[in-house]
Amino acid sequence: MSQKNQTLGEFIIENQAEFKYSSGELSRLINSIRLAAKVVNHEVNKAGLVDIIGAAGDVNAQGEDQQKLDVYANNKFIQTMTKRNIVCGIASEEEDDFISINSQDEQNQNKYVVLIDPLDGSSNIDVNVSVGTIFSIYRRITPVGTPVTIEDFLQKGDEQVGAGYIIYGTSTMLVYTTGHGVNGFTLNPAIGTFYLSHPEMHFPETGTIYSVNEGNYIHFPQGVKDYIKYCQQEEGDRPYTSRYIGSLVSDFHRNMIKGGIYMYPQSSKYPQGKLRLLYECNPMAFLAEQANGAASDGFGRVMEIEPKELHQRVPLFCGSSKMVQMVENFMSSSV
Ligand code: AHG
Ligand code: MN
Ligand code: MN
Repeated sequence: MSQKNQTLGEFIIENQAEFKYSSGELSRLINSIRLAAKVVNHEVNKAGLVDIIGAAGDVNAQGEDQQKLDVYANNKFIQTMTKRNIVCGIASEEEDDFISINSQDEQNQNKYVVLIDPLDGSSNIDVNVSVGTIFSIYRRITPVGTPVTIEDFLQKGDEQVGAGYIIYGTSTMLVYTTGHGVNGFTLNPAIGTFYLSHPEMHFPETGTIYSVNEGNYIHFPQGVKDYIKYCQQEEGDRPYTSRYIGSLVSDFHRNMIKGGIYMYPQSSKYPQGKLRLLYECNPMAFLAEQANGAASDGFGRVMEIEPKELHQRVPLFCGSSKMVQMVENFMSSSV
């Protein structure tokens, strides 16, 4: 039984048995993410002190400027999982292609692939606003001991065996699920240990916060415009409060605790939406559903979408289940 003040290490060991393919491998994987999270946290927290902020000059797979910390976090997570021989493949928002680990080594019996957004909300780094890391875990579908292929990564969100995020905020938290609810752990920076601080996290069924970049309003589909107007009308518990950090992890985290909806719809600028299905939407959708919330592309469950490519983008409406349902109602009645 989980209990507050348990360490993440203790929690992982105690809950290993409830994982259906229990082999210790997933536990080792979560442990390696925990380790990389601490290292990245240390770096994020000194971003204002050293010359590490600002664009690194590279352009990522989506044509966006990379910040130095994006590169740092990307390298740290990949290194940690690669050097410890934890997984058989990694795909990252910051890499054009997936990485196959020990593909020549027939002894490599690792079964899991990880997809990662190493630093989410990176435009917030320069201004001391919280950022995050998002990860998503699948069992490979190609045979163990062979090099991974694109099919191992292009699995539906419903196939995830684990997902989570790290939020580098006023305190640093690791929040994750392996399909048995969502638990949140807060880092005690003085001793470098994560403690269970938020057991069994749940979205309230409905809420009064909506989070969307309203600067894009005129480019949104009619259903989203109608929903935003609904949020602003005076009736019952409305008007709702608008809160948008511009960091999916942080907006999601707040909404999960307080009740609310996060939206990144399609627009004329981003006809498919901006967020990436595999690195952002699916892991957050898994967490949302495990926390009694919902995640939709406006018409149906995000986790049922059949991925076609690694860096695919989809619209995302995610949060308290009744609010997501309401957006879907507005979307379907406007087409
Ligand atoms: P990333 O920093 O990994 O590119 O992700 C940023 C994402 C998401 O976290 C955030 O909610 C959204 O992009 C913000 O986009 P806008 O600035 O267009 O609102
Ligand atoms: Mn992101
Ligand atoms: Mn990112």
